[in-house]
Amino acid sequence: MTPRSCLAIVLAAGEGTRMRSARPKVLHAIAGQSLLAHVLAAVAKAGVRTTAAVIGPGQDAVAAEVARVCPGAAVFLQQERRGTAHAVLAAKAAIAQQPDDILVVYGDTPLIRPATLQRLRAPLADGAAIAVLGFRPADPAGYGRLIMSGDDLVAIREEADASASERKIDFCNGGIMALSGASALAILERIANHNRKGEFYLTDAVEIARSMALRCVAIEVEEDDVRGINTKSQLAEAEAVAQQRLREAALEAGVTLIAPETVHLCADTKFGRDVVVEPYVVFGEKVTVEDGAVIHSFSHLVGAHVGKGASVGPFARLRPGTQLGDSSHIGNFVEVKAALIEAGAKANHLSYIGDATVGANANIGAGTITCNYDGTDKHRTAIGKDAFIGSNSALVAPVEIGDGAYIASGSVITANVPANALALARARQVVKEGWATRLRSLKSLGKKKAHSRD
Ligand code: UD1
Ligand code: CA
Repeated sequence: MTPRSCLAIVLAAGEGTRMRSARPKVLHAIAGQSLLAHVLAAVAKAGVRTTAAVIGPGQDAVAAEVARVCPGAAVFLQQERRGTAHAVLAAKAAIAQQPDDILVVYGDTPLIRPATLQRLRAPLADGAAIAVLGFRPADPAGYGRLIMSGDDLVAIREEADASASERKIDFCNGGIMALSGASALAILERIANHNRKGEFYLTDAVEIARSMALRCVAIEVEEDDVRGINTKSQLAEAEAVAQQRLREAALEAGVTLIAPETVHLCADTKFGRDVVVEPYVVFGEKVTVEDGAVIHSFSHLVGAHVGKGASVGPFARLRPGTQLGDSSHIGNFVEVKAALIEAGAKANHLSYIGDATVGANANIGAGTITCNYDGTDKHRTAIGKDAFIGSNSALVAPVEIGDGAYIASGSVITANVPANALALARARQVVKEGWATRLRSLKSLGKKKAHSRD
């Protein structure tokens, strides 16, 4: 049997005024990725190959996010916000291609799981015209209510249009709907706007399908799958659920999280085997940690690749473009940006390494700074393998330190240093015997000109 084809329509129009933000609602993020990206990823992971997104006027940033996450998706414009059915019909050209199944997913429902979308499609293969996700929220206020008759879904009543007894129903519409492609267009085109809000409600599709002698069903899921986001408070709740899921997945994959509830992950964080993450670590976007690496407490990593057996932190900051080689060490209060730290190299204390390469087994002393910025442009520092950079050195880029070279502590290096050379760039030490004793005796005599005498 050939698998049923499926079109997903992601509704992403609307500003989300209750977010109190200049940003369109679906571009707010949880676990480091936009709500829209989460939804598009779930759709793709559910095996859906054809995706259409419906956006509102002027939402170029939303269209750009669709293109970034799902380059093949068609983008349709809903000129006026006239209801969820009206939004779905903005993608009429895609529906007219007659896919076997159509999934309508709201862009503000980021916790939807691929397996849940697959479950929702299953009844269509058995002849149902419509399947919706139902759930029993702690507080049903604001949700459409599912009116059931045995296993059959009879109608969805929006709260504003519900009778007092219908409002008592606790089985609610999760807002995600699967429609059989064979009847979808005929049903959708019959939806009218005869309701309190004067909108074209997608939810009316159920009663229309029933009037056409078609079957509708509801699939019950946990509230977390269908949590819709309208406010910052709901965004924070969804973040907590997403973090919980990511931590569980990491533990399941064999990562040691000593205090999982204190580790903040990103949807795209990747771990190898036998990685240890100590308490209080933040992973931003695009971080990969290879086998056996240890991330010590209070470290913050974004856009970084941590090689096998490497050690990071405590209190390390890895910024985008950081690549740590195998068994390298980045210690406390060390910041690294756009730098390649090759295998076995060490920067253990209080350093800034930016726009640099550090060769294998080089040692970067405490307090070393790569001075990469001249106020206008960024410049690179290249440090060769086995080089030894003495503590408190400033390497003024662009500059190259050859393999095996030594930099004396406290140097300000402004010119290239050849391989295996020693560079000293600091004032020569002056020692004045007995100076302090003389100073004290002068002071004790009450004379004030101690400094000028010498
Ligand atoms: C909707 C459902 C309700 C369900 C709830 C679940 C309808 C009529 N009601 O209500 O039964 O319990 O979701 O969260 O469907 N949108 C557009 N264009 C429009 C209108 C909406 O793109 O003209 C998009 C919104 O951006 C949003 C989604 O559709 O992503 C849902 O719209 P919203 O107004 O939030 O519906 P609810 O009132 O929450
Ligand atoms: Ca909503």
